[in-house]
Amino acid sequence: MKKRLLSGIKPSGTMHLGNYFGAIKQFVDMQNDYDSFVFIADLHSITTVHNKDELSKNIINIALDYLACGLDPEKVCLFKQSDVAEVTELTWYFNCLTTVPYLERATAYKDAKAKGKEVNVGVFDYPILMAADILIYDSEVVPVGQDQKQHVEYARDTAQKFNSTFGETFKIPEALIMKEVAVVPGTDGKKMSKSYKNTIPLFGTDEEIKKAVMKIVTDSKGTDEPKDPETCNIFKLHKLFLNKEELATLSDRYTKGGMSYKESKEMLLSEILDLIKPMREKRENYSEDLDNVRAILKNGANKAKVIALGKMNIIRNNVGVKI
Ligand code: TYM
Repeated sequence: MKKRLLSGIKPSGTMHLGNYFGAIKQFVDMQNDYDSFVFIADLHSITTVHNKDELSKNIINIALDYLACGLDPEKVCLFKQSDVAEVTELTWYFNCLTTVPYLERATAYKDAKAKGKEVNVGVFDYPILMAADILIYDSEVVPVGQDQKQHVEYARDTAQKFNSTFGETFKIPEALIMKEVAVVPGTDGKKMSKSYKNTIPLFGTDEEIKKAVMKIVTDSKGTDEPKDPETCNIFKLHKLFLNKEELATLSDRYTKGGMSYKESKEMLLSEILDLIKPMREKRENYSEDLDNVRAILKNGANKAKVIALGKMNIIRNNVGVKI
């Protein structure tokens, strides 16, 4: 029996290299070995996206990105979170077990508060909707980047709390975080993130990708000077693309001097473009038939819904609302 894998991405902007290496690549690499469920977390994105056209465009874009990156709808159940409304019912049961101080410890909420933002209830309750996403499908493995670790811990705690209150109901999921790509750095060396405006878009035009790569922050060492690869933001990104020997050769060129940061950036640009060339073509093909993409999501939702309904039957019974 294959283990069940589940993960999702929010349609709240354009997919970047951090999402690809930190998440989607894992989903693709694991799709043969796991009973995989990958979804578009549209309900989560409504915590920030409040524009109908923007949201529906983002949802289609993420579906295209998933397919272009190599998720095979024959192997992976691909669906939209909001198509399985049971997840919001489960969120309510979890809400009634969750205390306010416990949610006040969530990093994302604390960060938003610290920035003086007026936080909506959706942001506050975000980890609980995510716990429902994970637990309703009896997921065992949740591949994510480091920034989602705390959220998976909330799901584990919530499962344990529910089990001890209402009786054994949920499996306890594990986060799967690949060390080398746990935090993909952005053009300024901080975690790549839409909110830091330091992203390299996965499916941007050549010009957009070039602009982002040329923006990578370096020190001011001239071409001839020896450079330290380990502190160089460009080198950190080369690590995503090059194998051990190629990295060793590049590292040598850095330490010997004679290689400019510009040359290193140009190399990185061609590594990125080589990676995405076949994915771009696939994306073009899928985008010519959006009805097919919608049908893939609908199929996935039908499959996910059957599992969610079966689980909700048990949950409703255990909570006591089923008479
Ligand atoms: P989201 O949309 O912010 O990010 C999607 C995935 O990309 C990973 N990621 C990164 N990994 C490494 N380095 C980076 N710089 C980087 N930036 C993003 C994230 O860790 C994530 O794995 N809350 C989730 C969506 C979600 C979900 C779920 C995930 C909703 N329900 C259930 C798993 C299971 C989110 O906002 O991801």
